[in-house]
Amino acid sequence: MSDERPADLGRPEGARAPAGYGTGPGVITPDGCPVDFYALLSPGREPEIVHAAATSPAASILELGSGTGRVTAALTALGHRVVAVDESPEMLAHITTAKTVCARIEDLALGERFDLVLLASHLINVPDEAGRQELLRCCARHVLGAGCVVIEQHAPEWFAAAEETGSESNGIAFRLRGISRPAPDLLSATVEYQVGDRLWTQSFTALRLGEDRLRRTLADAGLAFDRYLTDDRSWLRAVPIGPGPAGPAGQDQRT
Ligand SMILES: C[S@@+](CC[C@H](N)C(=O)[O-])C[C@H]1O[C@@H](n2cnc3c(N)ncnc32)[C@H](O)[C@@H]1O
Repeated sequence: MSDERPADLGRPEGARAPAGYGTGPGVITPDGCPVDFYALLSPGREPEIVHAAATSPAASILELGSGTGRVTAALTALGHRVVAVDESPEMLAHITTAKTVCARIEDLALGERFDLVLLASHLINVPDEAGRQELLRCCARHVLGAGCVVIEQHAPEWFAAAEETGSESNGIAFRLRGISRPAPDLLSATVEYQVGDRLWTQSFTALRLGEDRLRRTLADAGLAFDRYLTDDRSWLRAVPIGPGPAGPAGQDQRT
């Protein structure tokens, strides 16, 4: 039996698309991320990109979808106070340098605003526009008026360029396979991660955000595109347009 789940493009209007699907040893998050695998990864260029985009060197940061804190730890080492949010308690259990909140981003209402809200890991590329709005509205209701939102998307060029490949780094073999383009601007694929005899797969469908769609979807959430932070346009900075939408009613959800 195949471990790949085809993109469900015929789902009823209003129903949320699952962001991903994963297999392999240990706990797998609802969007398909293998916890044990993410715990092995080191921070790459992300902390420096975020730090450079901040309004001050000690900016407070709300990190959405923090996972095991791969980036969190580096941001706190750079001098930021970070609140790390993830829906997976198993992911958050790895974080030791920041306050953690176990919640769905869509439901988050901390009653506090931050200098910088971070939405990385291509979460913005979810195919479903309503789902993307919920993520961005969370950013908007948690960012200070003079603050910024830093977002990582799949580089727009990647959607046409992506091909089945394999590579190895630090004992981890990466393979991208099963690529399909089920509709314009949509790409479905499976990533394989292998470490020794442990093999994880993560299948996903991502929507390309062209310039117009990106600006429109940000504006709908009360955010304005500010600038790209990398030449490949995979990292960008947005700023709030107004005071931001009110969050879902509720108490501070910190754990
Ligand atoms: C690809 S992992 C990346 C983790 C981390 N940002 C990193 O770069 O190492 C995505 C993380 O986002 C979390 N996540 C995805 N969608 C979420 C949602 N709607 N609410 C809360 N957490 C979410 C997953 O549980 C997972 O830990």
